[in-house]
Amino acid sequence: MKIRKAVFPVAGLGTRFIPATKAMAKEMLPVVDKPLIQYAVEEAFAAGIEQIIFVTGRGKKALEDHFDRSYEIEHVLENKGKTDLLKQIRELVPKTGTIIYTRQHEPLGLGHAIWCARDIIGDEPFAVLLADDLIQTDKPVLSEMVKKFDRLRASIAAVMEVEKDQTDKYGILDAQAVEKNIVKINNMVEKPNPDEAPSNLAIIGRYILTPKIFEYLGKKEKGAGGEIQLTDAMKALLKEQPIYGYKFCGQRFDCGDKAGFQMANLAFALERPDMRDKLIKFIKKIQKDF
Ligand code: G1P
Repeated sequence: MKIRKAVFPVAGLGTRFIPATKAMAKEMLPVVDKPLIQYAVEEAFAAGIEQIIFVTGRGKKALEDHFDRSYEIEHVLENKGKTDLLKQIRELVPKTGTIIYTRQHEPLGLGHAIWCARDIIGDEPFAVLLADDLIQTDKPVLSEMVKKFDRLRASIAAVMEVEKDQTDKYGILDAQAVEKNIVKINNMVEKPNPDEAPSNLAIIGRYILTPKIFEYLGKKEKGAGGEIQLTDAMKALLKEQPIYGYKFCGQRFDCGDKAGFQMANLAFALERPDMRDKLIKFIKKIQKDF
């Protein structure tokens, strides 16, 4: 069955970016000139996704406006003859009816956020994208995962090796390699201390899940940090269905972290021909002071 729907949990408060996120959704923080959420939505559409489901919350109006028409801006750009920009802002509005918004009323965890989309997903496999995880690659991760899913017909999560002392930030796997870039997961644990972690192989925010996951999410059992964790539901699902990990190619940036966010900005700006030379010149200049 084709992966048609993607869930974007976007209800988080973004406390790590206060004061920037006091009145603004953290998913609207721009990397260069594009909000984080737009990178993720573009990745989803490029992977053949037809319906976007935002699990949102209070204070996230800017997200809805971002993916809507802005007649005022269009009018100004039209009058000024800025046709390129006009095309850009028109193109980022998805076809009417392809974005659905639902709300997570309380911050009960990632697992709970996804469970909020259960009736919209129904009985079909679906994707989950966490916009905080930005991946610079020429092999877009979700497109690759959709291809793997077509063959493996099982749930699959993007994975990468992390520093051993960082395991308490991730879902960590006990897994074995089964083919190039694919591991089969035996067990998983959410945010273990480094001395208890089964490995340093971590889940990164791209998933394709079978709808069976909703049965386990619906149990609403609390895990790490007192939250309903997706990792715990996947661990329970493992008893019934195989789950694979896809070791993606490319550089991942943790844009939920201030340093990671700055690194993403630099890396993506260096890819822009209009900025590259200026930035390199500046980096060389300040490097002398390090
Ligand atoms: C979430 C997941 C975690 C995963 C991580 C990837 O954690 O719970 O398993 O490794 O995303 O970014 P969060 O970053 O929301 O705390």
